[in-house]
Amino acid sequence: EWKMESFIDTTVAQLKEQIGDKGVVLGLSGGVDSSVAAALLSKAVGKQLTCVFVDQGLMRKDEGDFVEQTFTKLFDMNFVRINCQEEFLAKLKGVEEPEEKRHIIGTEFYKVFWNKIRESYGEGYFAQGTIYPDRIESGKGDAAKIKTHHNQVGIPEDIDFAGVIEPLKDLFKDEVRVVGEKLGLPHDLVWRQPFPGPGLGVRVIGEVTAEKVRILQEADAILRDEMDKCGYADKMSQFFAVLPGVKTVGVMGDARTYDELIALRAVTTDDFMTADWAKIPYEILGRVSNRIINEVEHVNRVVYDITSKPPGTVEWE
Ligand code: XMP
Repeated sequence: EWKMESFIDTTVAQLKEQIGDKGVVLGLSGGVDSSVAAALLSKAVGKQLTCVFVDQGLMRKDEGDFVEQTFTKLFDMNFVRINCQEEFLAKLKGVEEPEEKRHIIGTEFYKVFWNKIRESYGEGYFAQGTIYPDRIESGKGDAAKIKTHHNQVGIPEDIDFAGVIEPLKDLFKDEVRVVGEKLGLPHDLVWRQPFPGPGLGVRVIGEVTAEKVRILQEADAILRDEMDKCGYADKMSQFFAVLPGVKTVGVMGDARTYDELIALRAVTTDDFMTADWAKIPYEILGRVSNRIINEVEHVNRVVYDITSKPPGTVEWE
């Protein structure tokens, strides 16, 4: 604890000294690492910091607004949000294969993000929330990865920054969280579950459309709400809803329905290399299921995924 206190003081002093009166730009994803890096830089240089947040419209319900409010209300900085759901969905039209979707989302993100930086912030420093385990991971090469991850993006060669700043590069995840709390980031953000870079793009199975994203966001928000209320959220490593894109028959009043299926996924794990499906009490699952069917239009059935990893992965794609 005190170690992180002094880490903050030393780092803020160093950042002030290094950055001087230049600008610094940071790509903010809303994840723990980039958020803590943003908070730290804000403390050091305030308005000299610009955070660029690309909202591809594939985040959880209200997530983009939450990130924007957090950083505009609680911290001194320039905050730039780029809303580009339409562009992303246009690129994803007709695409069903998971790795192809990841590739498209990653490429599109890279383009949108760096175009913005290039046009407005190509001078001064570039900061990122790299932490110690990232540096070890990227040293291992891609062979160990089953799915492509797009969290770290190389800097295009034509952008000539004064330098790259990675204030968290020697910290482990729990240290990063302590720093985040000390800097006044909301608890929900600091203790946030991992969320895949391609977001709901890999939780809508098959082709992604605006309507499917909306259905999934609504269902996922209900799951989260119930898990928070009963205190179960903190017991899980990760939980979320999936839209398999399968229609099944149901009955509502006297009428036959033929509508979407929602799958719930919840796991406990230490490292995400292996994971157990979470033994959530039936009453909680029952409440979530009832609410989803009653409140989310076009969903008529809910199932719970009881597959551990291996053989299943955490995500469905
Ligand atoms: P899997 O599905 O591989 O997931 O068992 C393990 C962890 O990695 C996350 N995940 C991703 N994270 N980009 C990311 O940044 C991705 O493409 C991606 N795919 C999976 C997943 O949410 C889980 O925490």
